[in-house]
Amino acid sequence: MNPVNIHDFRDVARRKLPKIFFDYIDGGSFEEETMRANRSDFSRIALRQNVLVEPRPQDLSTTYLGRRHPLPFMLGPVGFLGLYSGKGEIKAARAAHAAAIPFCLSTFSIASLADLRAKTDGPLHFQLYVLNDRSLCEEFLDSAEKAGVDTLFVTVDTAITGIRERDVRNGFRSLTRVTPALLARLLMRPRWLADIALTGMPSVRAIEHRPEFGRGALEQAANLSRRIDKTLSWKDIAWLRERWTGKLVIKGVLTPEDAVSA
Ligand SMILES: Cc1cc2nc3c(=O)[nH]c(=O)nc-3n(C[C@H](O)[C@H](O)[C@H](O)COP(=O)(O)O)c2cc1C
Repeated sequence: MNPVNIHDFRDVARRKLPKIFFDYIDGGSFEEETMRANRSDFSRIALRQNVLVEPRPQDLSTTYLGRRHPLPFMLGPVGFLGLYSGKGEIKAARAAHAAAIPFCLSTFSIASLADLRAKTDGPLHFQLYVLNDRSLCEEFLDSAEKAGVDTLFVTVDTAITGIRERDVRNGFRSLTRVTPALLARLLMRPRWLADIALTGMPSVRAIEHRPEFGRGALEQAANLSRRIDKTLSWKDIAWLRERWTGKLVIKGVLTPEDAVSA
């Protein structure tokens, strides 16, 4: 059966991915109240059609981030795309560029900015988690400049992350390497495993040269998470604004007061 809507794609993902990765994408924080509330708010938005009007060419194009785009959305940063599907970041960037919309690479990615630049030629955005280690932040910013990144998204709403109960149950956060028990769970999804294995042992390419982060995507990600700066404040945004000469988006603003400060 061909997947048609988001529910069908969710079913495909559930069948294809190991449970720990499916739950990471599908789940939310704590008891998932906010996630349910968001869904319910969106489901209240309805379209009102006007009838018997001259047909006009459908045009959803709009301007955002300083450019005209044919669709009013973009692919936001999603961590670990390359773990859900081999070369996932490259596939997603190509799909975005085919639709002439931007793609934003997460700090938590398997592919690096340089990998992406070598394989795609559309506009690239990069999402930065500010780390305690500012020298690594500087490295990320240098790579972003080299890759010709257009816009930097600095994520500010996850300096302190919510507890994702499904991940705790699955032991996702505490995984740093492939144990025999995990391998047994991964082997239950042989097609996914073969796809990932074909691209080699997954690792976070942007920090591969830093031995202090360990080896393999799981250990590197756990060490990266620990280094996200929990004291991030407007002073750091001021630093970033001076350091980064391109466009800067503060990702995660919720209240009108914070929007005014931004
Ligand atoms: C599986 C998953 C991973 C994500 N990883 C990141 C990330 O690494 N960095 C980030 O800033 N946001 C991340 N996000 C948040 C998304 O960029 C986005 O802000 C959020 O999903 C809300 O948009 P949506 O309603 O279209 O899903 C992630 C979201 C999901 C579902």
